[in-house]
Amino acid sequence: PQDPRLKAITEAIRVVPHFPKQGIMFQDITTLLLDHKVFKDTIDIFVDRYKDMGISIVAGVEARGFFFGPSIALAIGSKFVPLRKPRKLPGEVISEKYDLEYGSDCLEMHVGAVKHGDKAIVIDDLVATGGTLSAAITLLERGGAEVVECACIIGLSHFKDDCSVNGKPLYFLVEPR
Ligand code: PRP
Repeated sequence: PQDPRLKAITEAIRVVPHFPKQGIMFQDITTLLLDHKVFKDTIDIFVDRYKDMGISIVAGVEARGFFFGPSIALAIGSKFVPLRKPRKLPGEVISEKYDLEYGSDCLEMHVGAVKHGDKAIVIDDLVATGGTLSAAITLLERGGAEVVECACIIGLSHFKDDCSVNGKPLYFLVEPR
C-alpha cells in the first residue's frame, strides 16, 4: 500500500500550465512549502530514508534543492553543500557543464566543500531529463565524494522502469499530475 502522505504531497504541488513557456506544465513546489504538515512530511520521508546511512554530505541543486536540502542535512547530522549556477560562488570552484533542451548550463561547487571518503546524497525538487542531477553527481565525484543516491520530490514517469541517473540510484516521491 502506498504511503498516505504521498497523495497530500502530490495535491500540494501546484501545476501551472504553459509556464515558463507554451506546452510546459510547471510543477510549482512553493505551494507545498506553504502547507506546514505536507512540508514536514516531505522532509521526514527523506530523513527517515537517509538518517542511518552514514551520509556526511547533502548537496542541494540551485535553486529549488536549497528549499529542502538544509532541513534534511540538519536532521540527519550531515553538512549541506550548495551546487550553484555559474559565477555565484566566491571561492575557487570546480564546474560541470550540462546540456539543456536549447543550449547548456553549468553547476559549480567550492573546492574543498567535499573530501575523499564523504558519502553524499543530491537533492533537487524535480528530475526531468536527469541532465542536472548527472552534472551534480560528476561534480561531487570529482571532489572525491561517493554519491549514494539522488533524491527528488517529483520524478517524470519514464524514470519508473530504470530508477537511476548517471549510474546512481534515483529516489523520488511522486509523479507530476
Ligand atoms: C529545474 C529543476 C531541476 C532541473 C531538472 O531547474 O529545478 O533542477 O530543472 O531538469 P533536468 O532533469 O532536465 O535537468 P531549472 O533549470 O529550471 O533552474 P532553477 O531551479 O534555477 O530555476
